[in-house]
Amino acid sequence: MKILVTGGLGFIGSHTVVELVNAGYDPVIVDDLSNSSVKILDQLARILGFKPKFYELNLCDEASVKLLAAEQSDISGIIHFAASKAVGESVQKPLKYYYNNFYSLINLLRFYEGKPLNFVFSSSCTVYGQPDVLPVTESAQVKAAESPYGNTKQIAEEILKDVTASGSKFNITALRYFNPVGAHETSLIGELPIGVPQNLVPFITQTAIGKREKLTVFGDKYNTPDGSCIRDYIHVVDLAKAHVAAIKLMEKPDFKGYDVFNIGTGTGSSVLEVIKAFEATTGVKLNYQIGEPREGDVEQVWGDVTKSAERLNWKAERDLTTMMASAWAWEQYIAANPL
Ligand code: WQD
Repeated sequence: MKILVTGGLGFIGSHTVVELVNAGYDPVIVDDLSNSSVKILDQLARILGFKPKFYELNLCDEASVKLLAAEQSDISGIIHFAASKAVGESVQKPLKYYYNNFYSLINLLRFYEGKPLNFVFSSSCTVYGQPDVLPVTESAQVKAAESPYGNTKQIAEEILKDVTASGSKFNITALRYFNPVGAHETSLIGELPIGVPQNLVPFITQTAIGKREKLTVFGDKYNTPDGSCIRDYIHVVDLAKAHVAAIKLMEKPDFKGYDVFNIGTGTGSSVLEVIKAFEATTGVKLNYQIGEPREGDVEQVWGDVTKSAERLNWKAERDLTTMMASAWAWEQYIAANPL
């Protein structure tokens, strides 16, 4: 069965394309290449043994989406990754985020309206802000977003719930990701940050390979065991598999409407623990300093993944060592094979 994967050449999208094929699905990739490289398509072909169907198009362009929906009218599902996702940039350019993240979603929903599709939405734990209770469950209060990026995720979930309540033929699941890290075991695909990485793990691997002089740990005076922030890091392949599990859940006759799932490991790791895990796994001593806290960071968040285990029939399997080893192997691969 055909599944449309928007943002399918991105970090999580490309890994999900691989897992869809592994599960017997036929992915159709849509990507505007604003935050990815078309060379990832060749990398996917090396992993899969064939090049998936690819449309270079911007989902904010109505005519393009209308054409896509006409040409790809026989899809059974959509996994929607395509969105702007840099927290810091969203504070500087809120209109870019509201335009891109809402207009792309609304166009997809409009031009596929009326079709009985299984729709997976890429949401984020950022909707929780700093939870009052940890681990955070899906029923926790969704707090005032810390950034326009987080706000687009919260409002998009509301849009999807309203679409469901209107009697739409869509089945919809929103997956609230925690922190995706690592890379495919072949090292042929991974995270390709443009410019200076905003996220921790690509900054670590770029420092380790010498592309960055040193890592700054954004604060070590938090109310945590070692003073640095805690997050729930999840291997991108486990995250990709969760999307296949969501499609399979919605294919079941007893699934109706809308549901939301935490996609994490259920375990928190501090920034300093991640650094130590990286050094222990790779044998590379990391050059880092302690700096000031970063504006907008929550102190600690990790997910309660009971509902995902029970309803989604999915659990993360890869540990921090595997996450660090695969991230490092990927950094070394792209250093030798620039994409
Ligand atoms: C993790 C920890 C930093 C860089 C964001 C989004 C989330 C998702 C993942 C899109 C924090 C610390 C980081 C550095 C550091 N994005 N850090 N030095 O902010 O938890 O989550 O990215 O889907 O929605 O909110 O991830 O990797 O930026 O930071 O000390 O150079 O690492 O302070 O504690 P974050 P992150």
